[in-house]
Amino acid sequence: MKNNCLLCAEPVCTKACAVMDPAKILRSLSFDNEYVVMNSIPAEIPCTDCEGRCEAACPVSVDIRETLLGIRRDRPDKKEINYDVLKTDFCGIPLENPFLLSSSVVASSYEKCARAFEAGWAGVAYKTVCFMDIEEASPRYSAVKGEEKIIGFKNIEQLSEESVEENIRIFRKLKENYPTKFLLVSIMGRDEEEWIRLAEMMNDSGADALELNFSCPNMTHKATGSDVGQIPELVEKYCKAVKAHTKLPFIAKLTPNVTHIEDSAEAAMRGGADGVAAINTIKSLIEVDINPNNGIYHASIGGYSGKAVKPIALRFIAELSADKALEGKHISAMGGIETWKDALEFIVLGADSVQVTTAVMQYGQRIIEDLKDGLALYLMNHGFSSVKEIKGSTISGIVPTEKLDRSYIIYPKFLREKCVSCGRCVLSCTDGGHEALRFAEGRPILDPKKCVGCHLCILVCPQKAIVSSEIKVPKRQ
Ligand SMILES: Cc1cc2nc3c(=O)[nH]c(=O)nc-3n(C[C@H](O)[C@H](O)[C@H](O)COP(=O)(O)O)c2cc1C
Repeated sequence: MKNNCLLCAEPVCTKACAVMDPAKILRSLSFDNEYVVMNSIPAEIPCTDCEGRCEAACPVSVDIRETLLGIRRDRPDKKEINYDVLKTDFCGIPLENPFLLSSSVVASSYEKCARAFEAGWAGVAYKTVCFMDIEEASPRYSAVKGEEKIIGFKNIEQLSEESVEENIRIFRKLKENYPTKFLLVSIMGRDEEEWIRLAEMMNDSGADALELNFSCPNMTHKATGSDVGQIPELVEKYCKAVKAHTKLPFIAKLTPNVTHIEDSAEAAMRGGADGVAAINTIKSLIEVDINPNNGIYHASIGGYSGKAVKPIALRFIAELSADKALEGKHISAMGGIETWKDALEFIVLGADSVQVTTAVMQYGQRIIEDLKDGLALYLMNHGFSSVKEIKGSTISGIVPTEKLDRSYIIYPKFLREKCVSCGRCVLSCTDGGHEALRFAEGRPILDPKKCVGCHLCILVCPQKAIVSSEIKVPKRQ
């Protein structure tokens, strides 16, 4: 079955079908939302005796009918989604759900923010406002890709190119037309005086709250952005300055380009911040020009974001959430969120709200449908009445390395019927593992005396023919 759906902007399959919306279903499947599809798909779908107009229209010949017919439609407990379970707040300000666009190009104009509100985002963190003259480079993005999807994304963008006054005009209009949506305005000053001026100007701008950008890694002005976020004394100083001149709640957006993010977070608390946001992008270098004829090696360090940074972002959120100095403070998490499951992981670690940029750049604002539906159904199915109930629920489940139980081995289990004898598991175990696998009659054979249960074979198997067994076998003495 071929499902290489391109997630088209204006899906021709849906236009051709005229009976249902195959594109929406394929999209939900791409965003880990099998359950939402199972919940919404009718018991009888007309695909069995249809001539397949959707497939004829599809530019890459996805097996749409087979995919749709393969979806289980026998769920007895189909539910109306109750979006009230997603209601939460930002320092006491109501949010209709925890999903915000993060401060970046995705939240950088009236039109984009208005469309995001209409689409179902609870709010936006508006692109960072400043007094600097911002001039951007072209091109400014590059990416690490896998199967034509962006896995890691690098940008060298700085802040809003609009004047502070023009941005305030936009905020007022947004607030006027969307009074119930949440407007978090990101600001950055070059010195104390600029932080104060920005804080004062934002007081009656329509902003509901402020996010202090101590974390952009791409600034051409020295001693701004992540240069500040790495120095707790400066974070504290600028937070204090803002606190003294704003009537709005504010959070500090922290840089991941540090070893101990808690140092800057605690400094922000001492400075009077109401919470933190993390992570901004990670300093990175994706591409280097290796053509010797070019003479100059063009490459620049920029901020890394998207799916690839999620494990790093999760680690930082876990550390922030465990920090006693942040108890009761708002944590707004981001870094690689694409699906509702990604968002949920951050929330169970302790996030109150979650923000997204790279996934919106790649897939558009419409991912909000799958984020909301997936999270709401998960909460309903598990008997939670509010997203607030699950905040921080696994933080104690994170085991420090020194406390890990190292007394057992969990062996891999080989699914013979799926194995095609490619031998990748044997190769990896021999050269990069513990030499516990060998080939016999075209099949991998495990030597339990040598196997340490590292699970490298499971990770490299291209056929998903090796899984983890569920038994913990005590190590031999
Ligand atoms: C193109 C681009 C521009 C960004 N501009 C800003 C910005 O102006 N202010 C800011 O605080 N963060 C900025 N960020 C960082 C994002 O808000 C976010 O922290 C980061 O990208 C991680 O989230 P993600 O993986 O969902 O993209 C930018 C990110 C990208 C990709």
